[in-house]
Amino acid sequence: MQNIKLISHPLIEHKLAILRDINTDPFQFRMLVDEITYLMLFEASRDFGLKDVEVQTPVATTKAKKMATKVMICPILRAALGMLDSVFKLLPDASVGFLGFQRNEQTLEAEFYYAKLPKDHKERLAIIIDPMFATGGTAIDAVKFLKSKGVEKIKFISILAAPEGLNRFSEIYPDVEVYTAAIDKGLNEKGYIIPGLGDAGDRVFNTIN
Ligand code: URA
Repeated sequence: MQNIKLISHPLIEHKLAILRDINTDPFQFRMLVDEITYLMLFEASRDFGLKDVEVQTPVATTKAKKMATKVMICPILRAALGMLDSVFKLLPDASVGFLGFQRNEQTLEAEFYYAKLPKDHKERLAIIIDPMFATGGTAIDAVKFLKSKGVEKIKFISILAAPEGLNRFSEIYPDVEVYTAAIDKGLNEKGYIIPGLGDAGDRVFNTIN
């Protein structure tokens, strides 16, 4: 699966170990999601296009480069909201296209309920963010939706992934790169990633009851 980009870095490995830990509290969990996303985006943006610009420094005029790639970040509600701030730190000019999917606990599949894209979405590189790439159902539906709206360039960033979801997704969308920091063992009968980290949304928003 050439579209799957496993990002391996000691800092990410270290932070992932703490992120997975059941004893990590929501405050620290949010910080780690933010930091890991930041490091992953650094890698996922490696092929972004640049344009030549001229800059006046206090001393002289010089040629320099600025980003030419226009980005639309697509957080999948709700867990991906925990990743959004770090994206803005690196890409302050990015637009946001929200995608709302809810897991049907019976079928374990994603059900689409909301989308809000910027008007110029067709001209932008879409980067879908979702901390967990589990069955692949949400990812497939999200990409299908964006393609139906005319978005041509799409990438995906997920902190943890399951092989089942990556395989299913890559058969349908071998052209869409998925960046992940870990490919775990698999899924349990409830569609949770093993060993994973539990429910990412609950841990970000402190809604574990
Ligand atoms: N969503 C989560 O939050 N966790 C999983 O393990 C799978 C899907």
